Amino acid sequence: MIEWDDTFEPAWWQRGAIYQIYPRSFADGDGDGVGDVRGITAHLDYVVELGAEAIWLSPLFRSPMADFGYDIADFCAVDPLFGTLDDFDRLVAETHARGVRVVLDFVPNHSSDRHPWFEASRSSREDPKRNWYVWRDGAADGGPPNDWRARFAAVGPAWTFDERTGQWYLHSFTPHQPDLNWDNPAVEAAMHAVLRFWLDRRVDGFRLDAIPLIAKDPELRDAGDAPTGPSAPEKVFRPRRRDQDWDTIADRLRGIRRVIDAYEDRMLVGEVYLYDLKRILSYVAGGDRLHLAHNFVFAQLPWDAARFRAAIDDFEAAAAGRAWPAWFLANHDTPRVASRFDEDGQGSTRARAVAVMLYLLRGTPFIYQGEELGLPDAEIPPDRVVDVDGRDPERAPIPWRPPSIAGPGAAFTTGEPWLPLVADAARLNVESQATDPRSTLSLVRRLAALRAATPALQTGGQRTIDAGADVLAWVRDGDGERLLAAVNFSLAPIALRVGGAVGSDATVVLSSDPDRAESDVEADALVLRPSEALVLRPRD
Ligand code: NOJ
Repeated sequence: MIEWDDTFEPAWWQRGAIYQIYPRSFADGDGDGVGDVRGITAHLDYVVELGAEAIWLSPLFRSPMADFGYDIADFCAVDPLFGTLDDFDRLVAETHARGVRVVLDFVPNHSSDRHPWFEASRSSREDPKRNWYVWRDGAADGGPPNDWRARFAAVGPAWTFDERTGQWYLHSFTPHQPDLNWDNPAVEAAMHAVLRFWLDRRVDGFRLDAIPLIAKDPELRDAGDAPTGPSAPEKVFRPRRRDQDWDTIADRLRGIRRVIDAYEDRMLVGEVYLYDLKRILSYVAGGDRLHLAHNFVFAQLPWDAARFRAAIDDFEAAAAGRAWPAWFLANHDTPRVASRFDEDGQGSTRARAVAVMLYLLRGTPFIYQGEELGLPDAEIPPDRVVDVDGRDPERAPIPWRPPSIAGPGAAFTTGEPWLPLVADAARLNVESQATDPRSTLSLVRRLAALRAATPALQTGGQRTIDAGADVLAWVRDGDGERLLAAVNFSLAPIALRVGGAVGSDATVVLSSDPDRAESDVEADALVLRPSEALVLRPRD
Protein backbone atom coordinates (compact mmCIF):
# COMPACT_ATOMS: atom_id res chain seq x y z
CA MET A 1 0.00 0.00 0.00
CA ILE A 2 1.19 3.48 -0.80
CA GLU A 3 0.49 6.12 1.78
CA TRP A 4 1.15 9.80 1.47
CA ASP A 5 2.03 11.71 4.59
CA ASP A 6 2.87 15.40 4.42
CA THR A 7 6.59 14.98 3.85
CA PHE A 8 6.79 12.78 0.78
CA GLU A 9 8.63 13.71 -2.38
CA PRO A 10 5.91 14.14 -5.02
CA ALA A 11 6.06 12.30 -8.32
CA TRP A 12 5.83 14.45 -11.45
CA TRP A 13 2.17 13.58 -11.82
CA GLN A 14 1.43 14.87 -8.32
CA ARG A 15 3.31 18.16 -8.43
CA GLY A 16 1.31 20.31 -10.81
CA ALA A 17 -1.37 20.36 -13.46
CA ILE A 18 -1.74 18.00 -16.37
CA TYR A 19 -2.88 19.97 -19.39
CA GLN A 20 -5.19 18.23 -21.85
CA ILE A 21 -4.58 19.00 -25.50
CA TYR A 22 -7.27 18.09 -28.00
CA PRO A 23 -5.01 18.05 -31.07
CA ARG A 24 -7.67 18.85 -33.67
CA SER A 25 -8.42 22.14 -31.95
CA PHE A 26 -5.13 23.29 -30.43
CA ALA A 27 -3.02 24.73 -33.23
CA ASP A 28 -2.90 24.10 -36.96
CA GLY A 29 0.62 24.00 -38.38
CA ASP A 30 -0.25 23.44 -42.05
CA GLY A 31 -3.29 25.58 -42.78
CA ASP A 32 -5.80 22.78 -43.44
CA GLY A 33 -8.10 23.98 -40.67
CA VAL A 34 -7.37 21.05 -38.32
CA GLY A 35 -4.83 21.19 -35.49
CA ASP A 36 -1.77 18.96 -35.77
CA VAL A 37 1.42 17.75 -34.10
CA ARG A 38 3.58 20.53 -35.51
CA GLY A 39 1.08 23.05 -34.22
CA ILE A 40 1.46 21.61 -30.72
CA THR A 41 5.26 21.65 -30.95
CA ALA A 42 5.17 25.28 -32.02
CA HIS A 43 3.20 26.21 -28.90
CA LEU A 44 5.10 24.30 -26.23
CA ASP A 45 6.33 27.48 -24.61
CA TYR A 46 2.71 28.36 -23.93
CA VAL A 47 2.40 25.10 -22.00
CA VAL A 48 5.58 25.91 -20.07
CA GLU A 49 4.28 29.38 -19.19
CA LEU A 50 1.15 27.69 -17.88
CA GLY A 51 3.39 25.72 -15.53
CA ALA A 52 1.99 22.36 -16.65
CA GLU A 53 3.86 19.26 -15.53
CA ALA A 54 2.60 17.23 -18.47
CA ILE A 55 0.50 17.37 -21.58
CA TRP A 56 -2.11 14.71 -22.21
CA LEU A 57 -2.80 14.40 -25.92
CA SER A 58 -6.19 13.14 -27.06
CA PRO A 59 -5.70 10.55 -29.83
CA LEU A 60 -3.60 11.42 -32.84
CA PHE A 61 -3.41 7.89 -34.22
CA ARG A 62 -4.46 6.78 -37.70
CA SER A 63 -8.23 7.08 -37.79
CA PRO A 64 -11.17 7.49 -40.17
CA MET A 65 -12.37 10.08 -37.60
CA ALA A 66 -15.87 8.74 -37.07
CA ASP A 67 -15.32 9.69 -33.40
CA PHE A 68 -12.55 12.21 -34.13
CA GLY A 69 -9.66 9.90 -33.35
CA TYR A 70 -11.26 7.62 -30.76
CA ASP A 71 -11.86 5.20 -33.65
CA ILE A 72 -8.37 3.93 -34.38
CA ALA A 73 -7.33 2.08 -37.53
CA ASP A 74 -3.67 1.72 -36.52
CA PHE A 75 -2.74 2.05 -32.86
CA CYS A 76 0.93 2.53 -33.74
CA ALA A 77 0.77 5.26 -36.38
CA VAL A 78 0.12 8.99 -36.40
CA ASP A 79 -2.78 10.02 -38.64
CA PRO A 80 -1.50 11.94 -41.71
CA LEU A 81 -3.94 14.70 -40.83
CA PHE A 82 -1.88 15.27 -37.66
CA GLY A 83 1.58 14.60 -39.12
CA THR A 84 4.12 11.81 -39.06
CA LEU A 85 5.82 9.65 -36.49
CA ASP A 86 8.91 11.84 -36.97
CA ASP A 87 6.83 14.89 -36.08
CA PHE A 88 5.66 13.02 -33.00
CA ASP A 89 9.19 12.05 -31.95
CA ARG A 90 10.21 15.67 -32.29
CA LEU A 91 7.25 16.75 -30.18
CA VAL A 92 8.27 14.35 -27.43
CA ALA A 93 11.90 15.50 -27.55
CA GLU A 94 10.93 19.18 -27.49
CA THR A 95 8.46 18.64 -24.67
CA HIS A 96 11.02 16.76 -22.59
CA ALA A 97 13.63 19.41 -23.32
CA ARG A 98 11.32 21.82 -21.52
CA GLY A 99 10.95 19.55 -18.51
CA VAL A 100 7.38 18.62 -19.39
CA ARG A 101 6.05 15.04 -19.75
CA VAL A 102 3.90 13.53 -22.47
CA VAL A 103 0.81 11.46 -21.73
CA LEU A 104 -1.01 9.72 -24.58
CA ASP A 105 -4.60 8.59 -24.84
CA PHE A 106 -4.76 4.80 -24.94
CA VAL A 107 -8.05 3.47 -26.30
CA PRO A 108 -8.15 -0.18 -25.27
CA ASN A 109 -11.85 -0.98 -25.56
CA HIS A 110 -12.38 -0.61 -29.29
CA SER A 111 -10.78 -0.02 -32.65
CA SER A 112 -12.10 1.46 -35.86
CA ASP A 113 -14.21 -0.81 -38.04
CA ARG A 114 -11.50 -0.12 -40.63
CA HIS A 115 -8.72 -1.57 -38.47
CA PRO A 116 -7.18 -4.58 -40.29
CA TRP A 117 -7.99 -6.68 -37.19
CA PHE A 118 -11.69 -5.96 -37.58
CA GLU A 119 -11.62 -6.30 -41.35
CA ALA A 120 -10.19 -9.79 -40.86
CA SER A 121 -12.59 -10.53 -38.01
CA ARG A 122 -15.68 -9.68 -40.03
CA SER A 123 -14.46 -11.52 -43.15
CA SER A 124 -15.54 -14.98 -41.99
CA ARG A 125 -16.65 -16.88 -38.91
CA GLU A 126 -13.52 -19.01 -39.26
CA ASP A 127 -11.02 -16.16 -39.49
CA PRO A 128 -8.31 -16.39 -36.78
CA LYS A 129 -9.21 -12.82 -35.74
CA ARG A 130 -12.94 -13.61 -35.42
CA ASN A 131 -12.68 -13.89 -31.66
CA TRP A 132 -10.76 -10.60 -31.33
CA TYR A 133 -14.12 -8.83 -31.33
CA VAL A 134 -17.48 -9.76 -29.80
CA TRP A 135 -19.71 -11.60 -32.29
CA ARG A 136 -23.01 -13.27 -31.43
CA ASP A 137 -26.12 -14.66 -33.05
CA GLY A 138 -29.23 -12.53 -32.76
CA ALA A 139 -32.00 -13.15 -30.22
CA ALA A 140 -34.84 -15.54 -31.05
CA ASP A 141 -37.00 -12.61 -32.19
CA GLY A 142 -34.37 -11.61 -34.74
CA GLY A 143 -33.22 -8.58 -32.71
CA PRO A 144 -29.80 -7.94 -31.16
CA PRO A 145 -28.25 -10.55 -28.83
CA ASN A 146 -29.02 -8.60 -25.63
CA ASP A 147 -30.42 -5.30 -24.37
CA TRP A 148 -27.17 -3.35 -24.09
CA ARG A 149 -27.27 0.23 -25.35
CA ALA A 150 -24.45 2.27 -26.88
CA ARG A 151 -23.11 5.18 -24.82
CA PHE A 152 -24.23 7.74 -27.39
CA ALA A 153 -28.00 8.21 -27.25
CA ALA A 154 -28.20 8.72 -31.02
CA VAL A 155 -26.73 5.26 -31.68
CA GLY A 156 -29.29 3.12 -29.83
CA PRO A 157 -28.50 -0.59 -29.44
CA ALA A 158 -24.84 -1.52 -28.85
CA TRP A 159 -25.06 -4.13 -31.62
CA THR A 160 -24.92 -4.04 -35.41
CA PHE A 161 -25.86 -6.91 -37.68
CA ASP A 162 -23.24 -7.78 -40.27
CA GLU A 163 -24.74 -9.32 -43.41
CA ARG A 164 -21.56 -11.02 -44.55
CA THR A 165 -21.38 -13.56 -41.73
CA GLY A 166 -24.92 -13.24 -40.42
CA GLN A 167 -23.97 -12.28 -36.87
CA TRP A 168 -24.06 -9.15 -34.70
CA TYR A 169 -20.99 -7.33 -33.36
CA LEU A 170 -20.80 -5.31 -30.16
CA HIS A 171 -19.94 -1.61 -30.12
CA SER A 172 -20.26 0.41 -26.93
CA PHE A 173 -19.99 3.61 -28.97
CA THR A 174 -20.72 4.08 -32.70
CA PRO A 175 -20.98 1.10 -35.10
CA HIS A 176 -17.61 2.32 -36.45
CA GLN A 177 -16.00 1.42 -33.10
CA PRO A 178 -16.34 -2.34 -32.58
CA ASP A 179 -15.42 -3.49 -29.05
CA LEU A 180 -12.28 -5.57 -28.76
CA ASN A 181 -12.70 -8.85 -26.91
CA TRP A 182 -10.51 -8.58 -23.81
CA ASP A 183 -11.60 -12.07 -22.74
CA ASN A 184 -9.25 -13.24 -25.50
CA PRO A 185 -5.66 -13.26 -24.19
CA ALA A 186 -4.33 -12.53 -27.69
CA VAL A 187 -6.15 -9.17 -27.64
CA GLU A 188 -4.72 -8.29 -24.23
CA ALA A 189 -1.22 -9.17 -25.46
CA ALA A 190 -1.66 -7.11 -28.63
CA MET A 191 -2.82 -4.09 -26.66
CA HIS A 192 0.12 -4.44 -24.27
CA ALA A 193 2.38 -4.36 -27.33
CA VAL A 194 0.76 -1.06 -28.32
CA LEU A 195 1.69 0.39 -24.94
CA ARG A 196 5.28 -0.78 -25.36
CA PHE A 197 5.48 0.77 -28.82
CA TRP A 198 4.80 4.22 -27.35
CA LEU A 199 6.76 3.67 -24.15
CA ASP A 200 9.78 2.88 -26.33
CA ARG A 201 9.21 6.27 -27.95
CA ARG A 202 9.63 7.79 -24.48
CA VAL A 203 6.01 8.55 -23.73
CA ASP A 204 5.58 9.14 -19.96
CA GLY A 205 2.12 7.82 -19.36
CA PHE A 206 -1.34 7.06 -20.62
CA ARG A 207 -4.89 8.17 -20.06
CA LEU A 208 -6.94 5.00 -20.37
CA ASP A 209 -10.06 5.72 -22.38
CA ALA A 210 -13.37 4.21 -21.22
CA ILE A 211 -11.40 1.78 -19.10
CA PRO A 212 -14.29 0.12 -17.19
CA LEU A 213 -15.46 -1.27 -20.53
CA ILE A 214 -12.57 -3.70 -21.01
CA ALA A 215 -14.20 -6.02 -18.48
CA LYS A 216 -17.71 -7.24 -19.28
CA ASP A 217 -19.89 -10.12 -18.27
CA PRO A 218 -18.45 -12.91 -20.45
CA GLU A 219 -21.94 -14.38 -20.71
CA LEU A 220 -23.24 -11.08 -22.10
CA ARG A 221 -26.41 -11.31 -20.06
CA ASP A 222 -29.09 -8.67 -20.38
CA ALA A 223 -28.46 -5.57 -18.31
CA GLY A 224 -31.99 -5.98 -16.96
CA ASP A 225 -32.57 -3.51 -14.15
CA ALA A 226 -28.95 -2.36 -14.21
CA PRO A 227 -29.49 0.10 -17.05
CA THR A 228 -26.92 0.66 -19.77
CA GLY A 229 -26.52 3.54 -22.17
CA PRO A 230 -26.56 7.26 -21.49
CA SER A 231 -28.47 8.38 -18.42
CA ALA A 232 -29.67 11.62 -16.88
CA PRO A 233 -27.37 14.69 -16.79
CA GLU A 234 -26.60 14.14 -13.16
CA LYS A 235 -25.74 10.50 -12.97
CA VAL A 236 -26.26 8.51 -9.84
CA PHE A 237 -24.82 5.23 -8.82
CA ARG A 238 -26.81 2.33 -10.14
CA PRO A 239 -26.29 -1.36 -9.54
CA ARG A 240 -23.11 -2.55 -11.20
CA ARG A 241 -23.71 -3.10 -14.86
CA ARG A 242 -22.99 -6.19 -16.87
CA ASP A 243 -21.53 -4.28 -19.79
CA GLN A 244 -18.58 -2.80 -17.85
CA ASP A 245 -16.57 -2.88 -14.62
CA TRP A 246 -16.80 -6.68 -14.35
CA ASP A 247 -14.64 -8.46 -11.76
CA THR A 248 -12.02 -9.26 -14.39
CA ILE A 249 -11.12 -5.54 -14.39
CA ALA A 250 -8.64 -5.80 -11.50
CA ASP A 251 -6.40 -8.32 -13.25
CA ARG A 252 -6.55 -6.42 -16.52
CA LEU A 253 -5.47 -3.24 -14.78
CA ARG A 254 -2.63 -5.14 -13.10
CA GLY A 255 -1.55 -6.45 -16.49
CA ILE A 256 -1.38 -2.93 -17.92
CA ARG A 257 0.47 -1.72 -14.83
CA ARG A 258 3.09 -4.45 -15.19
CA VAL A 259 3.78 -3.28 -18.74
CA ILE A 260 4.45 0.30 -17.75
CA ASP A 261 6.35 -0.65 -14.58
CA ALA A 262 9.00 -2.23 -16.77
CA TYR A 263 9.82 1.39 -17.68
CA GLU A 264 10.93 4.11 -15.32
CA ASP A 265 8.63 6.71 -13.77
CA ARG A 266 5.57 6.21 -15.98
CA MET A 267 1.97 6.98 -15.02
CA LEU A 268 -1.54 5.68 -15.72
CA VAL A 269 -4.70 7.74 -15.28
CA GLY A 270 -8.05 6.15 -15.97
CA GLU A 271 -11.22 7.56 -17.42
CA VAL A 272 -13.12 5.71 -14.73
CA TYR A 273 -16.52 7.12 -15.53
CA LEU A 274 -18.34 5.40 -12.70
CA TYR A 275 -20.50 7.32 -10.28
CA ASP A 276 -19.60 5.27 -7.25
CA LEU A 277 -16.53 6.43 -5.35
CA LYS A 278 -15.77 2.97 -4.00
CA ARG A 279 -15.67 1.53 -7.49
CA ILE A 280 -13.54 4.45 -8.73
CA LEU A 281 -11.09 3.88 -5.89
CA SER A 282 -10.84 0.20 -6.66
CA TYR A 283 -9.08 1.19 -9.91
CA VAL A 284 -6.24 2.77 -7.96
CA ALA A 285 -6.19 0.27 -5.11
CA GLY A 286 -3.26 -1.76 -3.93
CA GLY A 287 -0.48 0.16 -5.67
CA ASP A 288 -0.61 -2.35 -8.54
CA ARG A 289 -3.33 -0.83 -10.73
CA LEU A 290 -3.66 2.78 -11.91
CA HIS A 291 -1.92 5.78 -10.36
CA LEU A 292 -4.89 8.08 -10.84
CA ALA A 293 -8.57 7.83 -11.65
CA HIS A 294 -10.54 10.81 -12.88
CA ASN A 295 -13.20 11.53 -10.31
CA PHE A 296 -16.48 11.65 -12.24
CA VAL A 297 -18.53 12.12 -9.08
CA PHE A 298 -16.83 15.48 -8.57
CA ALA A 299 -16.86 16.38 -12.28
CA GLN A 300 -20.63 16.40 -12.59
CA LEU A 301 -21.52 18.42 -9.50
CA PRO A 302 -23.92 21.33 -9.68
CA TRP A 303 -22.72 24.73 -8.39
CA ASP A 304 -23.33 24.04 -4.71
CA ALA A 305 -20.77 24.54 -1.95
CA ALA A 306 -22.09 21.72 0.23
CA ARG A 307 -22.00 19.23 -2.64
CA PHE A 308 -18.41 20.15 -3.50
CA ARG A 309 -17.38 19.87 0.12
CA ALA A 310 -19.02 16.48 0.44
CA ALA A 311 -17.30 15.19 -2.70
CA ILE A 312 -13.91 16.33 -1.42
CA ASP A 313 -14.46 14.94 2.08
CA ASP A 314 -15.87 11.68 0.73
CA PHE A 315 -12.79 11.17 -1.38
CA GLU A 316 -10.41 11.83 1.50
CA ALA A 317 -12.37 9.57 3.82
CA ALA A 318 -12.68 6.71 1.37
CA ALA A 319 -9.11 7.00 0.10
CA ALA A 320 -7.72 7.15 3.65
CA GLY A 321 -4.37 8.42 2.40
CA ARG A 322 -3.93 5.58 -0.06
CA ALA A 323 -5.20 7.14 -3.26
CA TRP A 324 -4.16 10.41 -4.86
CA PRO A 325 -7.00 12.60 -6.15
CA ALA A 326 -7.30 13.58 -9.82
CA TRP A 327 -9.61 16.60 -10.04
CA PHE A 328 -11.19 17.86 -13.24
CA LEU A 329 -14.33 19.71 -14.17
CA ALA A 330 -13.99 19.83 -17.94
CA ASN A 331 -12.73 17.81 -20.86
CA HIS A 332 -13.56 17.36 -24.54
CA ASP A 333 -16.75 15.47 -23.64
CA THR A 334 -18.38 17.94 -21.24
CA PRO A 335 -19.73 21.47 -21.60
CA ARG A 336 -17.17 24.04 -20.58
CA VAL A 337 -17.19 25.35 -17.01
CA ALA A 338 -17.96 28.92 -18.11
CA SER A 339 -21.11 27.72 -19.84
CA ARG A 340 -22.16 25.01 -17.47
CA PHE A 341 -22.12 27.25 -14.40
CA ASP A 342 -23.48 30.27 -16.22
CA GLU A 343 -26.71 30.81 -14.32
CA ASP A 344 -27.17 34.49 -13.49
CA GLY A 345 -24.40 35.44 -15.92
CA GLN A 346 -21.77 34.14 -13.52
CA GLY A 347 -20.06 31.78 -15.97
CA SER A 348 -16.76 33.55 -16.48
CA THR A 349 -16.45 34.55 -12.81
CA ARG A 350 -17.13 31.00 -11.72
CA ALA A 351 -14.63 29.65 -14.25
CA ARG A 352 -11.99 31.70 -12.43
CA ALA A 353 -13.13 30.41 -9.05
CA VAL A 354 -12.96 26.86 -10.40
CA ALA A 355 -9.35 27.42 -11.43
CA VAL A 356 -8.49 28.44 -7.86
CA MET A 357 -10.25 25.34 -6.57
CA LEU A 358 -8.47 22.93 -8.92
CA TYR A 359 -4.96 24.26 -8.18
CA LEU A 360 -5.48 24.57 -4.42
CA LEU A 361 -7.05 21.21 -3.70
CA ARG A 362 -4.82 18.35 -2.64
CA GLY A 363 -4.38 16.26 -5.75
CA THR A 364 -3.56 16.60 -9.41
CA PRO A 365 -5.54 19.17 -11.41
CA PHE A 366 -6.41 18.27 -14.99
CA ILE A 367 -6.95 21.37 -17.11
CA TYR A 368 -8.65 21.01 -20.48
CA GLN A 369 -7.24 23.35 -23.13
CA GLY A 370 -9.12 26.63 -23.20
CA GLU A 371 -10.28 26.43 -19.59
CA GLU A 372 -7.26 28.60 -18.72
CA LEU A 373 -8.78 31.21 -21.03
CA GLY A 374 -12.23 30.89 -19.49
CA LEU A 375 -13.65 29.90 -22.87
CA PRO A 376 -17.38 29.25 -23.02
CA ASP A 377 -18.91 26.67 -25.35
CA ALA A 378 -19.00 27.83 -28.95
CA GLU A 379 -22.25 28.23 -30.84
CA ILE A 380 -22.39 25.62 -33.57
CA PRO A 381 -24.88 26.33 -36.36
CA PRO A 382 -26.84 23.21 -37.39
CA ASP A 383 -24.96 22.90 -40.69
CA ARG A 384 -21.61 22.80 -38.88
CA VAL A 385 -22.49 20.05 -36.40
CA VAL A 386 -20.09 17.12 -36.83
CA ASP A 387 -20.16 15.13 -33.59
CA VAL A 388 -22.67 12.33 -33.05
CA ASP A 389 -23.03 13.18 -29.36
CA GLY A 390 -23.34 16.98 -29.24
CA ARG A 391 -19.78 17.69 -28.10
CA ASP A 392 -18.74 20.20 -30.77
CA PRO A 393 -19.28 23.32 -28.59
CA GLU A 394 -16.49 22.41 -26.14
CA ARG A 395 -14.15 21.42 -28.98
CA ALA A 396 -13.97 24.83 -30.66
CA PRO A 397 -10.40 25.76 -31.67
CA ILE A 398 -8.16 27.85 -29.43
CA PRO A 399 -8.10 31.52 -30.46
CA TRP A 400 -4.43 32.47 -30.31
CA ARG A 401 -4.56 36.07 -31.58
CA PRO A 402 -7.26 38.69 -32.14
CA PRO A 403 -9.17 37.93 -35.35
CA SER A 404 -8.85 41.63 -36.24
CA ILE A 405 -5.10 41.04 -36.62
CA ALA A 406 -4.80 37.36 -37.50
CA GLY A 407 -7.96 36.88 -39.58
CA PRO A 408 -11.05 34.74 -38.85
CA GLY A 409 -8.93 31.72 -37.83
CA ALA A 410 -7.53 33.76 -34.91
CA ALA A 411 -4.08 32.26 -35.59
CA PHE A 412 -5.42 28.79 -34.83
CA THR A 413 -5.31 28.31 -38.58
CA THR A 414 -4.72 30.29 -41.73
CA GLY A 415 -7.43 28.14 -43.36
CA GLU A 416 -11.06 27.43 -42.59
CA PRO A 417 -11.32 26.10 -39.00
CA TRP A 418 -12.97 22.66 -38.80
CA LEU A 419 -15.33 24.03 -36.11
CA PRO A 420 -16.39 27.64 -35.52
CA LEU A 421 -14.43 29.56 -32.90
CA VAL A 422 -16.04 31.03 -29.80
CA ALA A 423 -17.98 34.21 -30.54
CA ASP A 424 -15.81 36.40 -28.33
CA ALA A 425 -12.39 35.43 -29.73
CA ALA A 426 -11.56 39.15 -29.95
CA ARG A 427 -11.44 39.32 -26.16
CA LEU A 428 -10.70 35.74 -25.10
CA ASN A 429 -7.70 35.00 -27.33
CA VAL A 430 -4.33 34.05 -25.84
CA GLU A 431 -2.39 37.10 -27.02
CA SER A 432 -4.82 39.58 -25.52
CA GLN A 433 -5.09 37.67 -22.24
CA ALA A 434 -1.33 37.12 -21.91
CA THR A 435 -0.68 40.84 -21.65
CA ASP A 436 -3.64 41.59 -19.39
CA PRO A 437 -2.90 41.02 -15.68
CA ARG A 438 -6.65 40.88 -15.00
CA SER A 439 -7.30 38.02 -17.45
CA THR A 440 -8.21 34.43 -16.63
CA LEU A 441 -4.98 33.30 -18.28
CA SER A 442 -2.94 35.56 -15.98
CA LEU A 443 -4.83 34.17 -12.98
CA VAL A 444 -4.11 30.57 -14.01
CA ARG A 445 -0.43 31.35 -14.55
CA ARG A 446 -0.28 32.86 -11.05
CA LEU A 447 -2.02 29.80 -9.61
CA ALA A 448 0.48 27.45 -11.26
CA ALA A 449 3.39 29.56 -9.99
CA LEU A 450 1.93 29.66 -6.48
CA ARG A 451 1.55 25.91 -6.43
CA ALA A 452 5.07 25.36 -7.80
CA ALA A 453 6.54 27.64 -5.13
CA THR A 454 4.52 26.21 -2.23
CA PRO A 455 5.33 22.68 -1.06
CA ALA A 456 2.21 22.72 1.17
CA LEU A 457 0.09 22.94 -1.97
CA GLN A 458 1.81 20.02 -3.63
CA THR A 459 2.11 17.59 -0.78
CA GLY A 460 0.49 19.18 2.26
CA GLY A 461 -2.48 17.82 4.11
CA GLN A 462 -5.98 19.17 3.66
CA ARG A 463 -9.06 19.71 5.73
CA THR A 464 -12.28 21.41 4.79
CA ILE A 465 -13.71 23.78 7.38
CA ASP A 466 -17.10 25.22 8.26
CA ALA A 467 -17.34 28.69 6.80
CA GLY A 468 -21.04 29.19 6.23
CA ALA A 469 -23.59 27.53 3.96
CA ASP A 470 -22.47 29.00 0.65
CA VAL A 471 -18.74 28.92 1.21
CA LEU A 472 -16.36 26.09 0.45
CA ALA A 473 -13.22 26.59 2.52
CA TRP A 474 -10.24 24.41 3.17
CA VAL A 475 -6.83 24.56 4.78
CA ARG A 476 -3.61 23.20 3.30
CA ASP A 477 -0.84 22.44 5.75
CA GLY A 478 2.67 21.16 5.28
CA ASP A 479 6.34 21.94 5.45
CA GLY A 480 5.71 24.50 8.19
CA GLU A 481 3.30 26.40 6.01
CA ARG A 482 -0.44 26.93 6.05
CA LEU A 483 -2.81 28.37 3.47
CA LEU A 484 -6.53 28.80 3.46
CA ALA A 485 -8.65 28.78 0.32
CA ALA A 486 -12.28 29.86 0.17
CA VAL A 487 -14.86 29.99 -2.60
CA ASN A 488 -18.08 31.97 -2.35
CA PHE A 489 -20.73 29.99 -4.24
CA SER A 490 -23.41 32.64 -3.79
CA LEU A 491 -24.30 35.80 -5.64
CA ALA A 492 -24.08 37.86 -2.46
CA PRO A 493 -21.06 39.09 -0.52
CA ILE A 494 -20.39 36.81 2.46
CA ALA A 495 -18.35 37.53 5.56
CA LEU A 496 -15.65 34.89 5.76
CA ARG A 497 -15.93 33.10 9.07
CA VAL A 498 -13.11 30.62 9.40
CA GLY A 499 -12.71 30.66 13.12
CA GLY A 500 -9.08 30.35 14.08
CA ALA A 501 -8.04 28.51 10.92
CA VAL A 502 -5.60 31.22 9.84
CA GLY A 503 -5.41 33.57 12.79
CA SER A 504 -6.68 37.10 12.45
CA ASP A 505 -3.71 38.68 10.68
CA ALA A 506 -3.51 37.32 7.17
CA THR A 507 -2.43 38.20 3.67
CA VAL A 508 -4.50 37.72 0.55
CA VAL A 509 -2.06 35.83 -1.64
CA LEU A 510 -4.36 35.65 -4.61
CA SER A 511 -7.97 36.22 -5.57
CA SER A 512 -10.08 35.27 -8.56
CA ASP A 513 -11.43 38.81 -8.46
CA PRO A 514 -9.09 41.11 -10.39
CA ASP A 515 -10.26 44.05 -8.29
CA ARG A 516 -9.03 42.51 -5.05
CA ALA A 517 -5.49 43.62 -4.38
CA GLU A 518 -2.99 41.31 -2.75
CA SER A 519 -2.97 42.86 0.66
CA ASP A 520 -2.80 42.35 4.39
CA VAL A 521 -6.20 41.85 5.94
CA GLU A 522 -7.90 40.97 9.16
CA ALA A 523 -9.24 37.50 8.36
CA ASP A 524 -12.27 37.90 10.63
CA ALA A 525 -13.33 41.10 8.90
CA LEU A 526 -12.90 39.80 5.36
CA VAL A 527 -15.93 39.79 3.09
CA LEU A 528 -15.87 37.47 0.09
CA ARG A 529 -17.28 39.03 -3.03
CA PRO A 530 -19.94 37.22 -5.13
CA SER A 531 -18.42 34.11 -6.75
CA GLU A 532 -14.98 35.06 -5.46
CA ALA A 533 -12.31 32.50 -4.63
CA LEU A 534 -9.28 33.59 -2.65
CA VAL A 535 -6.21 32.28 -0.91
CA LEU A 536 -5.04 33.54 2.47
CA ARG A 537 -1.76 33.05 4.26
CA PRO A 538 -1.44 33.74 7.98
CA ARG A 539 0.90 36.62 8.84
CA ASP A 540 3.14 36.06 11.81
C1 NOJ B 1 -14.26 8.63 -24.06
C2 NOJ B 1 -13.67 9.75 -24.86
O1 NOJ B 1 -13.27 10.77 -23.99
C3 NOJ B 1 -14.71 10.16 -25.85
O2 NOJ B 1 -14.38 11.35 -26.52
C4 NOJ B 1 -14.92 9.04 -26.82
O3 NOJ B 1 -15.98 9.34 -27.69
C5 NOJ B 1 -15.24 7.73 -26.09
N1 NOJ B 1 -14.46 7.52 -24.91
C6 NOJ B 1 -15.01 6.55 -27.00
O4 NOJ B 1 -13.64 6.31 -27.15
